[in-house]
Amino acid sequence: MKAYIIQGDGGIDGLGFVEREIPKPGPGQILVRLKANSVNYRDLMTIKNAAARGITGSRIPDSDGAGVVEEIGAGVTEFKSGDRVVGTFFQDWPSGPIHNRAMASALGGPIDGLLAEYALLNERGALPIPDHLSYEEAATLPCAGLTAWNCLIEAGQARAGDTVLLLGTGGVSVFAQQMARVCGIRTILTSSSEDKLARARDLGANDLVNYSRYPDWEEKVMELTGGRGVDLVVEVGGAGTLGKSVAAVRVGGRISLVGVLTGGQMDPTSIMRKSVCLQGIYVGPRDMFARMNAALKHNNIHPVIDTVVDFKNAKDAYRLMESATHFGKIVIGF
Ligand SMILES: NC(=O)c1ccc[n+]([C@@H]2O[C@H](COP(=O)([O-])OP(=O)(O)OC[C@H]3O[C@@H](n4cnc5c(N)ncnc54)[C@H](OP(=O)(O)O)[C@@H]3O)[C@@H](O)[C@H]2O)c1
Repeated sequence: MKAYIIQGDGGIDGLGFVEREIPKPGPGQILVRLKANSVNYRDLMTIKNAAARGITGSRIPDSDGAGVVEEIGAGVTEFKSGDRVVGTFFQDWPSGPIHNRAMASALGGPIDGLLAEYALLNERGALPIPDHLSYEEAATLPCAGLTAWNCLIEAGQARAGDTVLLLGTGGVSVFAQQMARVCGIRTILTSSSEDKLARARDLGANDLVNYSRYPDWEEKVMELTGGRGVDLVVEVGGAGTLGKSVAAVRVGGRISLVGVLTGGQMDPTSIMRKSVCLQGIYVGPRDMFARMNAALKHNNIHPVIDTVVDFKNAKDAYRLMESATHFGKIVIGF
């Protein structure tokens, strides 16, 4: 089979395109023939800074993939050959709070990922693809989709009538916008691009702020909420935006912190003064993924795919992500 491997700190250009043996499924494992991958900012960072992320030797990148079960190992009961499946980001996090074992089972990080024609998944590291979704669409769910769901609904506890602030129009934020709409949650969404803001409006974003035009966008958010602030922020920006997000959230509000897009420093005093609940989030467990899939199915939500890049040209997917010109998800098709 063909596979891509990370080679030192060679970055995107240094990705190797190699031949590997098709693996055999052991007990409790399934062999999946991949049909689609999706790319996350985390995958780009892993490829660009492999050593700093503790990756030595050759590692197959990418956490997110969907495909067909080709063969099952001994004891597998949940899947059979021919089933359409999507992998879970963590191969060992069935439910409950996160733990070190789960962290060590993240695809495309501590263990090989899915940018290959075939991959082994744990039986409990995969789920059936919701009927209404294609392989390309399903491949967008494991990281960005589930993170958005967790940030908004599970850890984020947003309810109909709440106002949520979404930053930018990448994978996580666009998913959060789609989910918020069907839950009756008002959104204020920021972007650096007027075109992307217009597309976000088409997805139901209620209020829009161009953060390039208004560097003090937190003041606009306060205006748009009558001086109260939002109930929840899905914080994908990280250190460079967190201070503004704290300024834009209401007293006693919540911030779901997932992002590392920007660097900087912030003074935590206002987190304390406003009694803000700041929750770090790392994707989510398998049972949460299943709940999200049920919601996507009931509401007929289809992920927003910006571009599908052919497997042979997979490096272009990371270059596109690096350019940040995309809206929603970038997919690699096999
Ligand atoms: N902890 C977790 O479990 C988890 C899971 C998934 C993602 N993440 C993190 O969440 C972040 C987003 O991931 P992603 O996959 O959605 O990335 P992505 O698709 O690459 O999104 C990038 C977009 O973010 C927006 N952005 C960049 N700088 C911004 C800023 N200063 N203010 C507001 N928006 C800004 C831009 O939107 P515009 O072009 O519209 O301006 C850009 O296009 C990354 O840091 C990623 O590592 C964490």
